[in-house]
Amino acid sequence: MLRFLAVLIALCAIGFGVFWLVTKPQTTELSALDGILPDIARGEAVFIAGGCASCHSAEGTEGDVRLELIGGRSFPSDFGIFYAPNISPDPETGVGKWTALDLVNAMKHGTSPGGQHYYPAFPYATYTRATLEDIVSLHAYLMTLPAVSWQNREHDLTFPFNIRFTLGGWKFLFLDEGWILPDVPTPELQRGRYLVEALGHCGECHTPRNLLGGMDESRWLAGAPNPSGRGSIPNITPGKLIWDESELMAYFTSGFTPEFDVVGGHMSEVVENLKQMPESDLKAIIAYLKAVPAID
Ligand code: HEC
Ligand code: HEC
Repeated sequence: MLRFLAVLIALCAIGFGVFWLVTKPQTTELSALDGILPDIARGEAVFIAGGCASCHSAEGTEGDVRLELIGGRSFPSDFGIFYAPNISPDPETGVGKWTALDLVNAMKHGTSPGGQHYYPAFPYATYTRATLEDIVSLHAYLMTLPAVSWQNREHDLTFPFNIRFTLGGWKFLFLDEGWILPDVPTPELQRGRYLVEALGHCGECHTPRNLLGGMDESRWLAGAPNPSGRGSIPNITPGKLIWDESELMAYFTSGFTPEFDVVGGHMSEVVENLKQMPESDLKAIIAYLKAVPAID
């Protein structure tokens, strides 16, 4: 009996050790950033394509106020309500003390400067594919924005989702830098893929999720229930979305559909970002949307 207990305890210890090893917060080595120089204009373009203001500005803000990234917006989910934090460069309540490496670790690994896991409500499962050059430049750009002192609101989550430690298991299952469309032939499609799969986080809304909240990549962009509980988010694969290139361009730059409806819901925030992007990037996104597998 004692022997059995000893074996059981040893197995538990090994099991826990393995769990700890595979799920501990990952980070990038500082030396990986050697020789990467920040470019603020490039950082601004990454900020727009990444849609950071859509979540981190205060609700209902427009124009320059949209660049005051005080957070506070709420994101209801099956696990509870998340609140976006202050990412303005305020040193006390925002991210003013963050280095470029801190931002790399947050966006590529979902790891905080204190070594904790972030919740995937911060779409790092998408940003993990961003290049180090883009994140270093984004960091430099963020530091040029207005610093605003504003306390973060705690997330309102149910047990066990309020324990950050458990997120290591989620990351082990779902955090993957690989491309969803591994083979795209042209530079335009590669750019479109980068904008959709690494920065624009289109899949975070348009792809259905499994029970554990991971994106179901076999139904990439095929539409999903709306996490707020109201209505659904449309399928934007060629299996459903039949708008031609110019209709998509009109939607992305004006918010009008071919039927002269106006874009609604969370997509109106996305269009706010798309509107500010260069035409060549929008063309690349459209080419990518035409190339993804059609799903009914
Ligand atoms: C869909 C909404 C959403 C988008 C888009 C988004 N974030 Fe966030 N972000 C969040 C949420 C929610 C958290 C809180 C995560 C947590 O507490 O674990 C967060 C956390 C962060 C943090 C950690 C802040 C801290 O105090 O620890 C940083 C930095 C950050 N986001 C930067 C960005 C940047 C840069 C972008 C654009 C490239 C971006 N976010 C886009 C929702 C979003
Ligand atoms: C925060 C969630 C969210 C994100 C991120 C998002 N979308 Fe959407 N999208 C929506 C919603 C909601 C609608 C429905 C809008 C409506 O009802 O007016 C929509 C509608 C659309 C439509 C119109 C489809 C139709 O049949 O009406 C297209 C095209 C589209 N999105 C493309 C994109 C692309 C490309 C991206 C990434 C750059 C993206 N979306 C990112 C939520 C999102």
